Amino acid sequence: MPHPQFPRGFLFGTATAAFQIEGSPYADGKKASIWDTFSHKKGKIRTGENADIACDTYLHPERDIDLMVALGMNAYRCSVAWSRVMPDGRGAVNQKGLDYYSRLVDLLLKRGITPFITLYHWDMPQLLEDGLGGFASRETCSLFADYATVVVKALGDRVKDWITLNEPWEHAALGHLLGDHAPGRRNPWTYLKVAHHELLAHGLGMQAIRAASADARVGITLSQTPILPVTDSLADIKAAALGDQFFNDFFLDGVYKGVYPEPLWSRTRLIHPHIGAEDMRIISGKVDFLGLNYYSREYARAAWYVPFLGAWVDEVDTGAGERVVNGYQFTNFNREVYPHGFYERLMYIKDRCGNPPVYITENGASFTDKLEDGQVHDPLRVAFLEGYMGEAANAARDGVDLRGYFIWTLMDNFEWREGYAKRFGLVYVDHATQERVIKDSGYWVREMIRSQKAGA
Ligand code: FCB
Repeated sequence: MPHPQFPRGFLFGTATAAFQIEGSPYADGKKASIWDTFSHKKGKIRTGENADIACDTYLHPERDIDLMVALGMNAYRCSVAWSRVMPDGRGAVNQKGLDYYSRLVDLLLKRGITPFITLYHWDMPQLLEDGLGGFASRETCSLFADYATVVVKALGDRVKDWITLNEPWEHAALGHLLGDHAPGRRNPWTYLKVAHHELLAHGLGMQAIRAASADARVGITLSQTPILPVTDSLADIKAAALGDQFFNDFFLDGVYKGVYPEPLWSRTRLIHPHIGAEDMRIISGKVDFLGLNYYSREYARAAWYVPFLGAWVDEVDTGAGERVVNGYQFTNFNREVYPHGFYERLMYIKDRCGNPPVYITENGASFTDKLEDGQVHDPLRVAFLEGYMGEAANAARDGVDLRGYFIWTLMDNFEWREGYAKRFGLVYVDHATQERVIKDSGYWVREMIRSQKAGA
């Protein structure tokens, strides 16, 4: 199969998140984040593991960067841990925490790798959770902007591309509605507060970033999961439309239109948070790019027992492990491999949001990888990337303003409640020894980048 071809100047990178790779949760003045706390609670992480070491990146950032160079990457998306920079979440700045990120940026730039920095990838300082309930409180939005100011003032001379928040839906829903992620709440009222406040924090954060660095480019990373009706009954079609608004359009329309979609918004009126007179204007301030995390599609069925939505959304098949269902491969994360949905969603965003510049800030797959004779053969991941990158390249050819692609992820890391059991990396990591081995998919990506005719 020929390699997908992308536009000239395209950025190729991998994405990571601080909590999933750094380890050293209390080094140099850092205090706990909600994930440090949550992952140490009994029964929260399926494997009983924690991220105290993870990929040991805090102590050895060069090792990761050597891998990026070996893979031929020219960009990297990572996140800053708020609790390293401001251990209490507000007030005193921890210079040593800032120094770590400053050094990381220098190391990247020295190797020709452009950093994209996410300011919030779900790791709320524990003290803000304790004092304010994290993003359940409006106050946290302005504290986020203060934190953004500190980071951008320190790094903005070298870092130009900033992402305010990662996947507000997942953080609000998994962390505050379903209780599967930190901080482990289960409350629809809290869910909607957190979702709105995350977007408000994005808007205020964007203003703070621009005030601290005149030539900063700012975006937000949203996940998009197309929701299809499980049958063609009218009730399921309606359920899918609502599901789509709940997962996707709430955030997309908030940011690009300054409104929350109907009928979802009216249906949830009993649990609306306070919306300040300026909130929607702040939320929909002009973004320079959209960060898109895309994995798969899901299915909705009418479900009268689900409050407010009347819909239940799930994978079409709830089995386990790699398998083929109805002709489609599934990953061991129970995601259907359906690359064409990626093309469709990119076109949907182009039409709905006025063809914004888009970076794929995450896309990747977890399969059961085995290290054998110093090699990892992962043909399913290679096929996944061929399919998804091919569809993204088609979308760029058909007019989507696609600028870059960050594969999730550089190396196997701490996959939230799955612990180390789910491997998404282009590089295999033996977490007992920290040995790294580039998988076949990593070599495929290297060749794909080398083959770019337009030049990367
Ligand atoms: C996304 C997260 C990322 C990683 C991938 C697999 O939802 O942003 O941290 O866990 O899923």
